Amino acid sequence: MKKYFILILMICAFVHTQAQNEKMNEFITGLMNKMTMDEKIGQLNLVTPGGAVTGAVVSKDVDGKIRNGQVGGLFGITGPDRVRQAQEIAVKNSRLHIPLLFGLDVIHGHKTIFQIPLGLSCSWDTALIEKSARIAATEASADGLDWAFSPMVDISHDPRWGRIAEGAGEDPYLGSLVARAMVKGYQGNDLTQNNSVMACVKHFALYGAAEAGRDYNTVDMSRLRMFQYYLPPYRAAVDAGVGSVMSSFNEIDGIPATANKWLLTELLRNQWGFKGFVVSDYTAVSEMIAHGMGNLQEVSALALRAGLDMDMVSEGFLTTLKKSLAEARVTQSQIDDACRRILEAKYKLGLFDNPYRRMSPERAKSEIFSDANRKQAREIARHTFVLLKNDHQVLPLKKTGTIALVGPLANNKDNMLGTWSVSGDWTKSITVLDGIKNVAGSGLNIMYAKGSNISDDTAFIKRVNVFRPEIVRDPRTPEEMIREAVAAASKADVVVAVMGEASDMTGESSSMADINLPSSQENLLKELVRTGKPIVMILFNGRPMTLNWENDHLNAILDSWFAGTEAGNAIADALFGDYNPSGKLSITFPRSVGQIPIYYNHKNTGRPYDGVEPPKFKSDYLDVSNDPLYPFGYGLSYTQFSYSDLSLDKKQISGSQALTVKLTVTNSGQFAGEETVQLYTRDMAGSVTRPVKELKKFQKIYLQKGESKEVSFTLTADDLRFYNSDLNFVYEPGDFKVFVGPNSRDVKEAEFVLTK
Ligand code: BGC
Repeated sequence: MKKYFILILMICAFVHTQAQNEKMNEFITGLMNKMTMDEKIGQLNLVTPGGAVTGAVVSKDVDGKIRNGQVGGLFGITGPDRVRQAQEIAVKNSRLHIPLLFGLDVIHGHKTIFQIPLGLSCSWDTALIEKSARIAATEASADGLDWAFSPMVDISHDPRWGRIAEGAGEDPYLGSLVARAMVKGYQGNDLTQNNSVMACVKHFALYGAAEAGRDYNTVDMSRLRMFQYYLPPYRAAVDAGVGSVMSSFNEIDGIPATANKWLLTELLRNQWGFKGFVVSDYTAVSEMIAHGMGNLQEVSALALRAGLDMDMVSEGFLTTLKKSLAEARVTQSQIDDACRRILEAKYKLGLFDNPYRRMSPERAKSEIFSDANRKQAREIARHTFVLLKNDHQVLPLKKTGTIALVGPLANNKDNMLGTWSVSGDWTKSITVLDGIKNVAGSGLNIMYAKGSNISDDTAFIKRVNVFRPEIVRDPRTPEEMIREAVAAASKADVVVAVMGEASDMTGESSSMADINLPSSQENLLKELVRTGKPIVMILFNGRPMTLNWENDHLNAILDSWFAGTEAGNAIADALFGDYNPSGKLSITFPRSVGQIPIYYNHKNTGRPYDGVEPPKFKSDYLDVSNDPLYPFGYGLSYTQFSYSDLSLDKKQISGSQALTVKLTVTNSGQFAGEETVQLYTRDMAGSVTRPVKELKKFQKIYLQKGESKEVSFTLTADDLRFYNSDLNFVYEPGDFKVFVGPNSRDVKEAEFVLTK
């Protein structure tokens, strides 16, 4: 009975969508019948008047172009009044009154800035991640925007790559869940709502695999690897109904993604059924000249033919497509298709009904940077911190006694927000010093000393400080600063050292060959260690860093990433135990940069290093172990969780059966806390080689002190599917291992067989 009911509901929904689509098609066909070829090409043009932009080129005479019908969308302006002015030019002064689409990089919040995406993914909490995107959409839409250039779902195995900060880490399964949550958060249930924005999944595709971790660099990989590791999160965003896709800067199989027909048409539209529009990345069309693909006319034609609909900033479409049409390099239907997809997006966003629907000064006043949003930013941030080390329970700290608060990021408003928070106001962010004062109250004596600069390297500082002075050198000498910090430390019960990267040491064009702490900070830490006081490091970082020395010498390390507007409050909540850290790494921390690319779901090779001596002629290094410093999935708590009684309800399942995996998790420590129980599998033999572990499921559980819970997972053959050498998504009968644990390393295991 219930089944029939669901079926009837599905049929009704289908009929309703069909009717809506017909209405939309009729409207757009009617409009396109009135459009000249120039006006159609104008819709394919995305311009920016400047602001926080990532290239030298900006668009000229934006107002004039809007009036002439030469602009489809605009990005880089915000504020209901400012956006309205531009919209009025389009709606009142252009011949056909077609509204513009207003986009922006809303990456981790709009004005209320949330934890950076890499940190968010360490919450493993898709409901919270969705909430952050929902709030971002509410604020962005109140500020005049229709379209967020987010989520970025690029998988990466390379912490040298600065943009690793903008993604969800290394795992395709977790990455897919995060992608879906973000799309749902931005787009809500109904795109016409004035508090929803269209999401734009990026950067399609494989951008996180840039060679040597150097931004914009070449990518070259097998189809099998793409499908196994890199493509699932983009696919998940498409399946979640993302309205637009941004092509990536890199090449794939020798053809830049922006003009790659296999990628943009065969895979994205034909195989995955994507119905929205594809926009290029910033000047990616004209950059194909430098890639060596031809002149502006040639690369623009290539891109359109490949399936690109909108050209961001290059104006290659605007200035050359008409000529290419006359020379039969592109067809009218290719231009029509692209124009139709962009008009459809505007229709779906409700812009033809009311082009000003997302420009409300009243909403902007009450809904942007509200107390409620800041409260959520604090709450979400707390769930993202990863406790990397906590010897002898030095954390949580007491709210009494004396602490020495040292380090270049301890009292540093400039660097709380993290990379690419373009609309965030850093002057309103909460520092760690402020947060500690707020949370600990007057019973705690705080001795603050900066101790060091983020970096002392002037050439490096100049390269980081492109947008504003994030790294400011103190007029004092390094020795004077260290002396002050050591003096504070020697009078304190405990030292809290707030160290790490400046916001723009990660993000776009912020690749690093050395991912240690800068030497100015290492020098400070070494002197602090000599005081013999317990040392807790709060780390600010947009990437995994190499922290061997710190791990060996410091008592506790709390990774806080870049926690956003409320960073200081959230960090203090964790520091003093008002919140018990629960984050788990979504990315592996290497011991050495030489281990990169390093990731948990690697293949076994024919000569795996198994710990047996001598290690000669095994797949290993002479000078460093294969193991990471902190593995994927890792993260401690103030309490301890013990895992026991792993059991499977069957030894064997067929393709149509389900396997139940059960275990008991006990909170055996002194605090209540949250744990993320992770389940991995290994396919012991396949028609293609299979990873040594793959995350398949996880559950977050909250346990009181002393409490035990039985956790149960269901696995079916569908969970065991993979791409075979024909790129079919299949499962193959055979032996499997299942692993359950608190991270990808410390697991309990069992075995089962999958039959036909
Ligand atoms: C980045 C995109 C961003 C765009 C617009 C590009 O350089 O790669 O992620 O959306 O600029 O700001």
